[in-house]
Amino acid sequence: MSWIVIIILLSILYGCYQWYCNKNLPPGPWGVPIVGYLPWLNPTKPYKTLTELARKYGPIYSIQMGKHFAIVMSDPISVRTALARNELADRTNFEVINEIMQEHGLIFTRGELWKEQRKFVCNWLKVIGVTKFGDKKTDLQLNIVDVVSSTISNLRQTNKRPIDTGKLFLVYIGDFVNRIVLGKEWPEDDPNWTYLRNLAEDGSKKFSIATPLSVLPILKIIPKYRKTVSEIIEGVLKTHFIYKTLMENRGKEVDQCKDLMALFMKEMTKRKNDIGHFFNEKQCCFLLSDIFGAGVETTVNTLRWFLLYMALNKDVQCELQSLLDLVCTGDDGIIDLENIEHIPLLKACVYEIMRLRPVAPSGIPRVVNKDITILGYQVPKGTMVLPLQWAMHHDKKYWMDPEIFQPKRFMDDDGNLINKKAFMPFQAGKRACVGDTLSYWILYLFGANIIHNFNISLEDGLSEQEINTITDGEFGITLSPAKHSIVFETRI
Ligand code: HEM
Ligand SMILES: *[C@@H]1O[C@H](CO)[C@@H](O)[C@H](O)[C@H]1NC(C)=O
Ligand SMILES: *[C@@H]1O[C@H](CO)[C@@H](O)[C@H](O)[C@H]1NC(C)=O
Repeated sequence: MSWIVIIILLSILYGCYQWYCNKNLPPGPWGVPIVGYLPWLNPTKPYKTLTELARKYGPIYSIQMGKHFAIVMSDPISVRTALARNELADRTNFEVINEIMQEHGLIFTRGELWKEQRKFVCNWLKVIGVTKFGDKKTDLQLNIVDVVSSTISNLRQTNKRPIDTGKLFLVYIGDFVNRIVLGKEWPEDDPNWTYLRNLAEDGSKKFSIATPLSVLPILKIIPKYRKTVSEIIEGVLKTHFIYKTLMENRGKEVDQCKDLMALFMKEMTKRKNDIGHFFNEKQCCFLLSDIFGAGVETTVNTLRWFLLYMALNKDVQCELQSLLDLVCTGDDGIIDLENIEHIPLLKACVYEIMRLRPVAPSGIPRVVNKDITILGYQVPKGTMVLPLQWAMHHDKKYWMDPEIFQPKRFMDDDGNLINKKAFMPFQAGKRACVGDTLSYWILYLFGANIIHNFNISLEDGLSEQEINTITDGEFGITLSPAKHSIVFETRI
């Protein structure tokens, strides 16, 4: 009898062992039930804890984040390969985000809707002039230069008064994005535009309060979280109400317009009697606010990081200024994209900022949509995938002194730009950022012309510790510098 029991027990044990081995999940830290590893993550800088774990467990590891089982990847080559796979083309299904976005828009959508709308947005970008060359590109550039000039005239009036660059760039970059997205610009003090800007500033704070909800939906029972979610939803509704009024007030001119709203309205009319598409008013509103959200906060914060590091690295600023003086030959005193082609150092500065302070340090998560193997490990369907930008951008294997601002690491000895495989601010694959080229143009034109016009420095009287706090940044939806002011001193 006892023999039989022993044999049964042994085979059960063996079965469990087999099952465990076959699961062959990537290694990773243990967590506790329900919350997983969350209690050990740095609450304000989670990407730093995730990077320490990558140093310990390697380029792919697994981690339980509340409700979501995740893998974190930090080897640039395998990240690129993984992100290019069709099985990774979807985004994680977060309950709270679904509640807010109702699976509309672009960033958090999946399946057919995502495919159709992404194609539509990529086409719109070509229509407005995000192309290698041509008249449309020239027009688009004029539009950016227009807001750059307004920014510069505004800064000329500041008379060395320290300026909060966040508020300022939100106005002007916001104007530009409204122009291409809504075909409309508001005066700075228009109540609706002021409302939308406050929402954008407030939104990041609210979103960071709501972030824990995406991994721990159970927190909904706490009133603070419920309240934040309802405030976000209220903001979305009010934004859509403003958009709908704009749509109603547009007439025949729509036919000649190239803004996203106009193209969408034309598509709606064209497909009025078709079925099986997503060109309806609700999708239009969500798409417009998605593009505004994805385009404005990211570029505003990257530009703020850029100016902050220019203020802290006067030698680089000075070198850029002398190069800019050389290429600036036009009567209008504007540095354009053509001029910038002759200043690799300017581009290198923008790359270096995006490496050192990426606006999405933890990466924008994807999800695995069927059971697959990655680097020999089994990754089950539904696993969240984090391409950890912070780890890749700060890996000593790829970057010497990764903590130091050193734009010339993006240049070879002859002064030409070089591609770095560990540099991935826009991620990669079919779902990579659609706005990469446009962002670079905005950043180059603002960056070059501001540095050309002004000597910039950080406000006086800050201690080293205060400066460290500013450059360490604050992490909400994006990583932004902590509150600070910049002094602009006219130089030409
Ligand atoms: C410094 C500027 C920017 C950075 C660093 C940035 C970064 C990113 C990243 C990391 C993603 C996730 C991509 C992935 O899953 O692989 C993303 C997605 C996206 N970005 Fe950007 N972005 C920037 C500017 C813009 C601009 C100006 C636009 C508007 C035209 C834009 C529109 C989008 C959209 C629509 C998506 C979602 C794409 C999809 O899910 O299919 N971004 N961005
Ligand atoms: C602001 O938007 C509301 C709602 O769409 C609209 O009724 C109102 O006319 C707008 N106000 C201004 C000043 O444009
Ligand atoms: C701007 O900075 C440069 C170099 O630091 C200096 O030589 C120049 O005098 C400054 N210009 C103004 C107007 O302050």
